[in-house]
Order: sequence, then structure tokens, then C-alpha cells
Amino acid sequence: MFFNLLLLTVIVTVEAQRVPGLQKTDSCLCKINSSIWTFPAVQFMEVTRQVQVCEEILDEFEEKVINTNAELPMMEATLQNITSRLKPFDYLYKSGLYSALYLRQLNQELEEIHRSVSETHMQNPKKETRTLLRELNKTKKDAQKMYKDDFFNLESMKNRLRDLNNRAQTSKTMPTDFRSSCHQRIMTRISSPVVTKLNSISKSYISGAWGRDALLTDKERYWEHCLVSGHKDGHTIRMYNSYEDFMANRNYKDEQIAPSYSSKNAVRGSGTILYNNTVYYQCYDKAEICSFDITSQSTKRMKLDGAGIDNKFPFCYYSCRDWTDIDLEADRDAVWVIYATEENHGNIILSRLDPVELNITHTFKTHLFKRSVSSTFMVCGVLYATRYVNTYQEEVFYAFDTTTGQEINSLSLPFEKVAAGIANLNYNPVDRRLYMYNDGYLLAYNTFN
Ligand SMILES: *[C@@H]1O[C@H](CO)[C@@H](O)[C@H](O)[C@H]1NC(C)=O
Ligand SMILES: *[C@@H]1O[C@H](CO)[C@@H](O)[C@H](O)[C@H]1NC(C)=O
Ligand SMILES: *[C@@H]1O[C@H](CO)[C@@H](O)[C@H](O)[C@H]1NC(C)=O
Ligand SMILES: *[C@@H]1O[C@H](CO)[C@@H](O)[C@H](O)[C@H]1NC(C)=O
Ligand SMILES: *[C@@H]1O[C@H](CO)[C@@H](O)[C@H](O)[C@H]1NC(C)=O
Repeated sequence: MFFNLLLLTVIVTVEAQRVPGLQKTDSCLCKINSSIWTFPAVQFMEVTRQVQVCEEILDEFEEKVINTNAELPMMEATLQNITSRLKPFDYLYKSGLYSALYLRQLNQELEEIHRSVSETHMQNPKKETRTLLRELNKTKKDAQKMYKDDFFNLESMKNRLRDLNNRAQTSKTMPTDFRSSCHQRIMTRISSPVVTKLNSISKSYISGAWGRDALLTDKERYWEHCLVSGHKDGHTIRMYNSYEDFMANRNYKDEQIAPSYSSKNAVRGSGTILYNNTVYYQCYDKAEICSFDITSQSTKRMKLDGAGIDNKFPFCYYSCRDWTDIDLEADRDAVWVIYATEENHGNIILSRLDPVELNITHTFKTHLFKRSVSSTFMVCGVLYATRYVNTYQEEVFYAFDTTTGQEINSLSLPFEKVAAGIANLNYNPVDRRLYMYNDGYLLAYNTFN
């Protein structure tokens, strides 16, 4: 009978991945191999292709359905079921690599960059900004022409825009001593763990963050923050005034960031960082950044336009780590936020925040698919990303330098862990240590350049 015979198999050319569509009594399954989410990000395109191939099968199937009058109602239901199952992948090609980039959106972005460069140029005319303005004018013309002639080159236009944007951001003034004071931009080695300790509350709190205040003050502040309610939300931060107290779990103070883990100013996810006795984190249930000043006990909020939340763009290398959509980092005089947007195809966006005003001063766009890494950290304006090697080893494989806009994909700086999952990884410019929240264990490493 038709039902039993229907076994569809497709060979996808790249990676020669088989995507069988399989008819079972009341459903037809097109299985997408989930390991396809792993690195490299190129496979992202592969998933989109698989979904499309799968849809082609469905089209064939539909044709057969039309010819099989007797089975029609049941098959129609099956088709509806399949369509609804493919829904979650919709955004991959609606706003992913296959989407045509609309001229209006493109022009808006060009205008935005143009405005930003013009401002910078007026404040401080330089050869670099003049060249950028000239290139922007040329790009605008090209965009118009391309739209008329050749739809498909829009993707390369998108890359060009991204590069122009990054150069525009770089040409904006950073604090004058920003670069000269950073002696350790390029990392060459990470030590064995110099601290390995279970968090002070419970082994069951496998998600959270910890570290040392990223601004050098007279106090040597260490902090520990665990997520409750399904490793998702939090509302207190445990503070220690010395390394000795931290190691001995004594003389701590639990500061309340919000009245409860589900109140408006509570913490969502494990991207938290402490800078100048202020906690920076993703606000509860919102694409917003919150800052809670422990000294004054006051909270500020800022919208992060377009940022994917609710496990849309978490860290996913190997297996997805829920509630890691937004990652905060700090360097000597700024807070950085690492996130992804549909507009940038799920690739990492890096925004620099003024820690006091809590507004964005710079925004860089990378080519690094956020779901293809397991964690990130910032060292002196350089973004580093890691990938999972095995349960006990992690590796820094990627760097993006905001001062040049250059990306490197071929680093290999391995370091040890005690468990598989990373909830948070942050670099501290005061002691040049990396701090990791490793499935409930607190680890720290020395770094070398
Ligand atoms: C998924 O793909 C990987 C490599 O591409 C392969 O090793 C694995 O066996 C596949 N899994 C399934 C269930 O087909
Ligand atoms: C589709 O079929 C599966 C398996 O029979 C079932 O579990 C699921 O609820 C169905 N989905 C819809 C949207 O009907
Ligand atoms: C770019 O175009 C604008 C008007 O669209 C013009 O004012 C400006 O002088 C041009 N800049 C350069 C560098 O050509
Ligand atoms: C740190 O915070 C204090 C107030 O709590 C403020 O006066 C000072 O300017 C801040 N320092 C930096 C570098 O932001
Ligand atoms: C940040 O906010 C301050 C005060 O509201 C404002 O003066 C400054 O221009 C803002 N900076 C940016 C880059 O928006």
C-alpha cells in the first residue's frame, strides 16, 4: 500500500548528509540531524538547505496526495502537521542567508553609518574618515545599481556594509589611553586552573557567574552569582571583601539586586559581570541591559535593539546552553555586551557601553555565528571565543580585534575544565585572570601574552 512504500531519501551534496523523509501512520518526518548545529558556522547554511530540500519532498508528496483521492483528508492533515513542524526553522531563511536584503533596510544602514562617520569626521577630520565617506558614497551608488541589475549580489553588499560599519566604529574616538594601556591584547597561553572550588551555596546550582570586580579600587572584591528557577533567573549576588574570605566561604554579604527572582529588575541568564561595584546583567525577560549599583542600590535599564533572547541565539557549540543569549564583559574602562540579531544573521554583535550613562558608544558586527561557540570574553577590545573539545578541555579558537576589524579563526589556546558546560567566562583586566562558572564549579586561570 502507498503508505508503507513511501520512504523518501535525499542526498544533500555538501557533507553528503542523508535527510530521509519517512511516512509513519499519521505523520511524515523529515529529520534534521541536530549535530549539524555544531561548528563550523557554514553548516548553518546547510540546515537551511536541508529544510528547503525537505520542503521539495513535501511538494512531491503533496502532488501524490492530490492523486490519491481516498486518502486525501488524512494526508492533508499530515501535510499540515509537517508544515507546522517546519515553522521553527522559518526564520532561518526568512531572515537568514537566503533572504533578499531590502533596499530600504540597506539604505537605512548606509545612512546610519554615514551619519556616524560624518559626526566623527566633523569632530576630528582624518584621512581615514575622509576615505570612509568617499567609500560610503560609492557604496550607496553601487547599492542602487545592484538593486536594478542583480539581486543576488546583495549578500556581498551586506558584507561590505559590515566592514564599513566596523571601520566607522573603529574611527570613533576611544578614550585616549585606551590602546596604550592594554599590554595584553593578544593572548598566547592560558594556565592550568589556579582556583577550583565549588560555589558556596550548592552543587545543584549549575548556572551562574563569578569573578572579581573588573575595576581596580582599594577593595579586592570577589563576587558569586547563582541562578535559581531552572538555572534561568537570579536576584542576589554574594560579595566578599578578600580572596581569603572567598576561598573560606566566610564574611560574605548577600546583596539583593531585586526583591525576587521574578520581579522586573531580576537577572535573566548567566551573562552577568561586576564592574565598579555595579552589577551588569540581562534584565528579567527583556532584551534590555540592567545595571545595579550596589553602593547606591539603584537600577538603570537600557534597550538592546534587535537582540535575540529566550534561547534564540544562545551559546551552542556541542550542546546549547540555555539562557546565554546575552553575555556581558568588562575591560578597564568599559562594559561590553555580546549578543546576536536576526539582522546580522545570528552572528555575534559586540557593543561597547559607557558604564555610568549605560548607553552604547560603539557597535561592531562579526561573521561569527553565535550558536557556533561555547563562550566568549573580552581582553582590551579584543573579543575571544571558545569551543568545546571534550568534557575536560576547552579551546580559544577565534578572536575579533575591534581596533582593526580583523577576525582570526585559527587560534588554538587549549585550557582545562572540570565539567562539560560553561555558564560564564569572563576576563579580569586587574589580575589578568579568566574566571569560569563551570557547571557549579568556580575556576580561574592566569593568562599570558
Ligand atoms: C549526524 O551527522 C554526523 C556527522 O555529520 C554523524 O556522525 C551522525 O552519525 C549523524 N547522526 C544521525 C542520527 O544521523
Ligand atoms: C503531529 O504529529 C505528531 C505525531 O503523530 C504529534 O505528536 C503532533 O502533536 C502533531 N502536531 C500537530 C501540530 O498536529
Ligand atoms: C558624499 O555625498 C554627500 C551627499 O550625498 C556629500 O555631501 C558629500 O560631500 C559626499 N562626500 C564625499 C567624501 O564625497
Ligand atoms: C565608580 O563609581 C563611583 C560611584 O560609585 C564613581 O564616582 C566613579 O566615577 C566610578 N568610576 C568609574 C571608573 O566609572
Ligand atoms: C550617553 O548619554 C549621555 C547622557 O545622557 C549623553 O550625553 C551622551 O551623548 C550619550 N552618548 C551616546 C554615544 O549616545
